[in-house]
Formats: sequence, C-alpha cells, structure tokens
Amino acid sequence: MSEQTLFKVTVDGITIEVPAGTTILQAARQIGGEVAPPAMCYYSKLKGSGGKCRTCLVEVSKGSEKDPRPMPKLVASCRTTVMDGMEVKNITSEKVVDARAGVVEFLLLNHPLDCPICDQAGECHLQDLSFEHGKSKTRFEFQKRTFKKHDLGDHIQLHMTRCILCYRCVFTADQLTNKRVHGILDRGDHAEIATHIEKSLDNEFIGNVIDVCPVGALTDKTFRFKNRVWFLKPMDAHRDCPTCSGRVTLWNRGDEVYRVTARKDEWGEIEDTPDGKPGWICNTCRFDKKEASDWVIEGPRAISRASVISQGHYQGSVGMHKPTETFLAVNGGRAPHLLMDIHDESEVNKPEIHLGQIHGPSHGDTFNKIEKS
Ligand code: SF4
Ligand code: FES
Repeated sequence: MSEQTLFKVTVDGITIEVPAGTTILQAARQIGGEVAPPAMCYYSKLKGSGGKCRTCLVEVSKGSEKDPRPMPKLVASCRTTVMDGMEVKNITSEKVVDARAGVVEFLLLNHPLDCPICDQAGECHLQDLSFEHGKSKTRFEFQKRTFKKHDLGDHIQLHMTRCILCYRCVFTADQLTNKRVHGILDRGDHAEIATHIEKSLDNEFIGNVIDVCPVGALTDKTFRFKNRVWFLKPMDAHRDCPTCSGRVTLWNRGDEVYRVTARKDEWGEIEDTPDGKPGWICNTCRFDKKEASDWVIEGPRAISRASVISQGHYQGSVGMHKPTETFLAVNGGRAPHLLMDIHDESEVNKPEIHLGQIHGPSHGDTFNKIEKS
C-alpha cells in the first residue's frame, strides 16, 4: 500500500498534519472549536459544494515551506487545499474578522428579520453567524427583495426571501434524487430558488433539502408554526426502514413527536451512520412516522451547551427521565402559567389529536377541518 503524503499546516498557531488534498477548512475542523471557519455553503457530504458564500475566508500568511510568500488576498478555506508548511490565520487575523463582518452584512442585505416567526430560529446558521461576526446596525436603506410565491408541494415550504443562494439544496436534489426539478433561476439580484413551470418536489429523499438549508428558506410543512425548537426534547431514535438508514432525531414535547430530522453533527451536517455513509433519511421517516410507537428511542440527543436548544434539555445525569418540575414544587403543586399544557388551555386543540400529525400550521381552521372529517 502506498504511503499517504502528509502536509503540515498551522491554523491560528496550532499545527497538525493532514493528507495532501485536504482543504484548509477540513484541516481547521480537525483542530476544532473556534479555529474552524464558519461555512454557510460548503457541505462535506455534497460534492461540488462551497465557494459561494465567502463566510469561510481566511488569511494565508505563509504559502508553504517552499514558497513562504503570503497569499495576496483572503481565500475561501473550503476551496483552498493546504500546502506543506502553510500558515493560516482565521480568528487571529484582523483582516478576516473585518471581511467576515462585511460578508455577514452582505448576506443580511436582503434577508428579512423573520427570526421571531421563523421555524429555523434557534438552529439557524445565519443567526449564529450574525451573532458571532455581524454588526449591530444596518446601513441598508432600500426595500428588500420580494418574490412571487412558489409552491413546492405537500411537504416543503419555500420562503425565498430568506434564501442565501448557497446551492446546498440544489446539490442535494442532484445527488440524492434521480429527478431534480428545482434549481437557481435567473441571475444577479433576480436569482432565486424555483421549480421550472410549477412542479412539486416529491422525490422520496427530497426532504433532506430541509436539513441542509442553513437558513429557514426551506421548512417542513408538517412542523411549521407548531412549536419552537427550544421547547422540544431532541431524542435519538431509529426504525427498521427499508428505504433509508432510519436513524433520526425526534423532536418531542411530552409524548408527541412534532418533528423528525436526520441526526446532525457538530458542524450542522448530516451525521454518518456507523458504516460511514451519510445518514440521509427518507420522506416516510421524516413526514409520516409521527407516533412515538413508530420508533425505538435510544436516548436524549447530545446538544451543545451553547445552543438555545439545550435549555430545559434533559440529557446528561438525568438520562431518559424527566427531571422533577421545580416550579411545581415551589408553587404549591400548581403548574406555572408559562408551562401550561396547551391541551388544557386551548378550546381548539384536543389531547387526543397530536399537533405533530396535523398537516401544516396548527391554527383553528386546519384543526376544525381535521376534526370534522
Ligand atoms: S433554499 Fe436554503 S439550501 Fe437552498 S439555496 Fe437557498 S439557502 Fe441554500
Ligand atoms: S463555505 Fe466557503 S465559500 Fe461558503
């Protein structure tokens, strides 16, 4: 077996050895933590991704051992491969910090301030990016872009105003399904995600575009407006699925399964299955298996402590057991209003109907329609 050539690369003062052909971003991810640049368009599981958003820009202060000259401009770390002896600055470079603030400002030019009503809130990469690298004020005084509404079918809702044109969903449809019907139409500030001649996205694996979308542009119609992710308890679960890996995260509240997603790793990408393949999930697992009894529950999903989703999350020392409600104990046994059970409080909703099974937002009309039928 031929020996693999290893290159030494230093990122923010930390040196590691990686195989030739590794990109700066992949090398930085191997170091981990803050050294890894943010990536809004690169997705390691999608061939050809990256090079679109410029959030991963870094400074190469030394090109290589043979040619130590610095690179004249900041480079996209997701598309630039390492050289032996290369030195890279990410958060230690003022130029990078400044450029990244500019990229965030650019991405937010047309992005609406939808966070209070957007289903991606709490797990949005653009939210994290603007929190960490953005500015608190905007200089943009013009009207933001608006689009004609496109219907993408029964399962997926497109909010084009939120799209940052990262192309991830296009690569997903290209590489996971055998008939991509959507893409980026038009160019410049007219560019938009759309289907040609109003088609719906209905391939069995197309639901994965929801998981790869870094913002709330593609959302799950079975989950929209049902709950906030930080009120839900993510649990790892699996089922014997004939179509996909069947390894998912269930987003539960009490016994109700509100949402099913693929499992994500620390970079927000689909986690690999034990046999090393990406754990994409099929539409049946994602949209139709909304009963807890459909799944074998493995246990609470590990969530980063920095994430808002970790609040009230019962992973760790308490294991699978729900912790004792401190409020009840200190409130003379009375449930606090803020933690009310929606079934007790709402005349529309009924405990025998699980919100996760109502298709679309759970407002009164939808609910009544279901109740009558
Ligand atoms: S819809 Fe989402 S995944 Fe698709 S290009 Fe826009 S931001 Fe990227
Ligand atoms: S992640 Fe590198 S350009 Fe988008």
